[in-house]
Amino acid sequence: MDLDKYLADRAALVNNALKEALAGHEERPKNLHTAMHYSLFAGGKRLRPILTLAACEASGGNKEDAINAACAMECIHTYSLIHDDLPALDNDDLRRGRPACHKVFGEALAILAGDALLTAAFEIMAKTPHPDKGVVVKAVYEAANAAGSLGMVGGQAVDIESEGTEVDFPALEYIHIHKTGKLIRASVRCGALIGGAGAEGFSALTRYGESVGLVFQIADDILDVEGSIKDMGKAVGGDAKKGKATYPSLMGVVESRRLANELVERAVSALSGFGDKAEPLRAIARFITERKK
Ligand code: IPE
Ligand code: IPE
Ligand code: MG
Ligand code: MG
Ligand code: MG
Repeated sequence: MDLDKYLADRAALVNNALKEALAGHEERPKNLHTAMHYSLFAGGKRLRPILTLAACEASGGNKEDAINAACAMECIHTYSLIHDDLPALDNDDLRRGRPACHKVFGEALAILAGDALLTAAFEIMAKTPHPDKGVVVKAVYEAANAAGSLGMVGGQAVDIESEGTEVDFPALEYIHIHKTGKLIRASVRCGALIGGAGAEGFSALTRYGESVGLVFQIADDILDVEGSIKDMGKAVGGDAKKGKATYPSLMGVVESRRLANELVERAVSALSGFGDKAEPLRAIARFITERKK
């Protein structure tokens, strides 16, 4: 399949839906909405929402059914990037190829833009047009659980408190599974729920989401060592300077890449019970370790 075209088409779909779902940037308070739009429409890959749509289709649903959940995932993700770049966290000045939200709008508005995007996610998700509202409640639960203290925020907390310390492999794995893996896993699971996956399909897609979620952060760590600022649209080399717990710092780039490839294979084999409808999910898993940005 032509993955580049697939990703571009799906990203366009997500971008249009996000524009429709969110308050316009002219809406009062204008600065707040402008800051939200600034970070959201800066050209992210839209990987999480695309996974939601792809998992929905692999489960037999229509992508339109999962578009609200997909948008919600991107709102949560963009909020996490805005807060991740704040001086109190990673203190990064460049994001998605432009100055970080707090560099343009100030810290207070960046914090609030993040808060508002996180909240908007649940507003949008709750409006999912599904005949079975029990499914919508389950999807909301998935997203909340993955974003909170037992998920992404928990991972971020341990990431920050581990800076400059020596972490062992279980601690490193905890950080990566939580700060990045959980939201990616939830993106897949929400799509599967809305698409009507059966018990077996749901657990296979969960295993896929787990592997893809972890490998995504390992690849991000490797790109921080080997990638370019131009491709990535964010600073590189910062992890080592900050003493971040990363796979390359703990086991080296070669071993990190070996582990990443193993996780991609694990993700693909989790989909062995699916036919052609899961081809985009397989291609996305491979893309994660091959990407330059
Ligand atoms: C960056 O995520 C943050 C991580 C969890 C590694 P992405 O690489 O998906 O960033 P965008 O959305 O494409 O900007
Ligand atoms: C990001 O991890 C995890 C988030 C929840 C945002 P990083 O701190 O490595 O992400 P980048 O490299 O700044 O995008
Ligand atoms: Mg960080
Ligand atoms: Mg960061
Ligand atoms: Mg990084």
